[in-house]
Amino acid sequence: MQAIDWTGHSLRLLDQTKLPATIEWVECHTYQDVAWAIRHMIVRGAPAIGASAAYGLVLAAQGCRHELSPAICQETMVKAAAELRSTRPTAVNLAWAIERMLRAGAGLTGDSLAVRLEQEANAIAMEDVEVNRAIGRFGAELVPNAARILTHCNAGALATVGYGTALGVVRAAVEQGKKVEVFADETRPYLQGSRLTTFELMQDGIPVTLITDSMAGWLMARGGVDLVIVGADRVAANGDVANKIGTYTLAVLAKEHQIPFYVACPLSTLDLSIRSGEEIIIEEREAREVTHVGGVPLAPEATRVWNPAFDVTPARLVTALITEKGLVYPPFDSKLMALR
Ligand code: MRU
Repeated sequence: MQAIDWTGHSLRLLDQTKLPATIEWVECHTYQDVAWAIRHMIVRGAPAIGASAAYGLVLAAQGCRHELSPAICQETMVKAAAELRSTRPTAVNLAWAIERMLRAGAGLTGDSLAVRLEQEANAIAMEDVEVNRAIGRFGAELVPNAARILTHCNAGALATVGYGTALGVVRAAVEQGKKVEVFADETRPYLQGSRLTTFELMQDGIPVTLITDSMAGWLMARGGVDLVIVGADRVAANGDVANKIGTYTLAVLAKEHQIPFYVACPLSTLDLSIRSGEEIIIEEREAREVTHVGGVPLAPEATRVWNPAFDVTPARLVTALITEKGLVYPPFDSKLMALR
């Protein structure tokens, strides 16, 4: 399953706001189209928005391919980078990909800039799938046969360029011949678990059972979960993990029930410039995501709402990080520094 498709002159994105009811693609011809698609969650998931932003910069460079003035071209690139970066604040992969692209294009202009940036965006996309496969291989060691795995949100192929991080671990375990069963948290309010994770796993024939977020504790108490695996949007130098709202609750529950809590984390999700999760900006989204489902109101009109899209799980609740370079156990600080 692939949600991102680069045609050479446009970026096609599988519209994740419409899944699973409708399979529809949105075609982006300009960097502004890509910024709009990221902001409106047509494409979502930390690695997927990073790769999309990279292609957004290719579109910006292609737009000024025939611009004779290097200064004007440079100005466009700076503007495009700023607009793409501002779309969503929490996932560091976005800034990581944009900075990598700007470094790749430094000193170039016109046609050579467009060609070089396209190469770099393709490399980011290709590496993402390789990284996810490596995360899968390392993570699969943690998955016993007949494991019941609880996951939150969607950290699968739809959230990446392909294969997935947390769901990459599930896929790798299945490829190794293990029988696994996944419990997918619904993931209120955006419902990435019920809309996307179930859809993606069912397409692959991997057994998945949907639960609402509030059922996770009781499922654990009944002995129904062997391990939890989630993705990440930004991991601080001390190992604190920002991920989809509700992840922290799961980590606390896992600790109480002595269930291992693993975080699949590509190195592009590491932010070693911040010491702890306290410095992570948590995106707050519009009230309507909480008050409405599919256009139907669930709360009285004008209800006051707080809608943080992410939370921070303290490193002390994380059993291990699963990276493409191997498993990282606490204490995280010096080990994470050594990885980059
Ligand atoms: O708001 P979203 O859907 O972009 O949030 C996605 C998540 O929180 C994922 O768990 C995270 O980005 C990791 S995806 C490999």
